[in-house]
Amino acid sequence: MEFKAAALVSTLLCLALSHGALSQRAPIVETPAPAPAPAYVDLADLLSLAGPYGTFLDYLTKTDVIKTFQSQANDTKQGISVFAPLDSAFAAVDSGALSNLTDDQLRSLMLHHAMPRYYPLSAFSKLAAASPVSMFAYKVNVTDHAGIIGVASGWATAKLVSSVYSTSPVAVYALDTVLLPKEVFPTAPEVTPVAAPAPAPGRGGKPMDDAPGAGRGSKANVGDKGSSCRVGAGSLLVGYVVLMVCGFLMV
Ligand SMILES: *[C@@H]1O[C@H](CO)[C@@H](O)[C@H](O)[C@H]1NC(C)=O
Ligand SMILES: *[C@@H]1O[C@H](CO)[C@@H](O)[C@H](O)[C@H]1NC(C)=O
Ligand SMILES: *[C@@H]1O[C@H](CO)[C@@H](O)[C@H](O)[C@H]1NC(C)=O
Repeated sequence: MEFKAAALVSTLLCLALSHGALSQRAPIVETPAPAPAPAYVDLADLLSLAGPYGTFLDYLTKTDVIKTFQSQANDTKQGISVFAPLDSAFAAVDSGALSNLTDDQLRSLMLHHAMPRYYPLSAFSKLAAASPVSMFAYKVNVTDHAGIIGVASGWATAKLVSSVYSTSPVAVYALDTVLLPKEVFPTAPEVTPVAAPAPAPGRGGKPMDDAPGAGRGSKANVGDKGSSCRVGAGSLLVGYVVLMVCGFLMV
C-alpha cells in the first residue's frame, strides 16, 4: 500500500515536472524559426556607422533621396546597390560646382549613386560586360580590370575601394570619386584629387577582398539563431531526463 502511494506521488511529481519542462520549451516551439526573409537594413544607420560617408548621407537626407533608397532596400525582391563616395571624394570636388546645382540636379546626382537592384561583388564582371548599366538616374559604365572595379560616369572614373556591406537585398560599396554625369554637369567641374584615403582600421569599411555577405547584420542573425537552438536543446534534454527518471520510478 505504502509503496503504491509512494509510486503514485512520485508519478504525479514526475508528470508535474515533465509538464513544467515541456511548457518551458513551449515558447521556443511556438516561435517560428526566423523566416528566411532578410533582416531590415536601415541605410542611414549603416552609412553613419560604417565610416566616412557623412557628406553623402547629408546630401541623401537633404534631397530626400534616402527615402527612395530605403524603400528600395525594403523591397527584398529587387534590392539596391548603393555607391557611396568617401568624404574625401566630396571634398575633392569644387564646392561651387555642387552648391551651384539646383535642388532637382542635386537630387538627380544622388539618384545617380545607386542601382535599383542588389548586386554582390561577384556580379560586377557581368555588369562590366553589360555596360552601360542603369542607376536610379542615368547610366554608368562598369569596368573590371583583373578584379579592379571601376564605375565611369561622364567626367568621373571612380574606383570601387571597398565593400561596406553586402547581404541581399542591400549592398553598399565605397567609391574614391564622386560620379559626375554629363546630364548634371555639362562642363567638367574642377576636381582636386586629395591624398588617397588611408585605410584606417574600422573606418573605410571592409577591404574589397572580404567575402560579400559578411556584413554585421548577417553575423548578428547567425548568433541569435545559434543561441535559441542551444536553449531549445537544453530544455529538451531536461525533458528527456525527467521522463527517464519517471519511467524508472513507475516500473
Ligand atoms: C522600410 O521598412 C522599415 C521596417 O519595416 C520601415 O520602418 C520603414 O518605414 C520602411 N521605409 C520605407 C522608406 O519604406
Ligand atoms: C555656377 O553656375 C554659373 C551659372 O550657371 C556658372 O557660370 C558658374 O561657372 C558655375 N560655377 C561653378 C563653380 O560651377
Ligand atoms: C560608356 O561607354 C561608352 C563607350 O565608350 C561611351 O560612349 C559612354 O559615354 C559611356 N557612358 C558613361 C555614362 O560614361
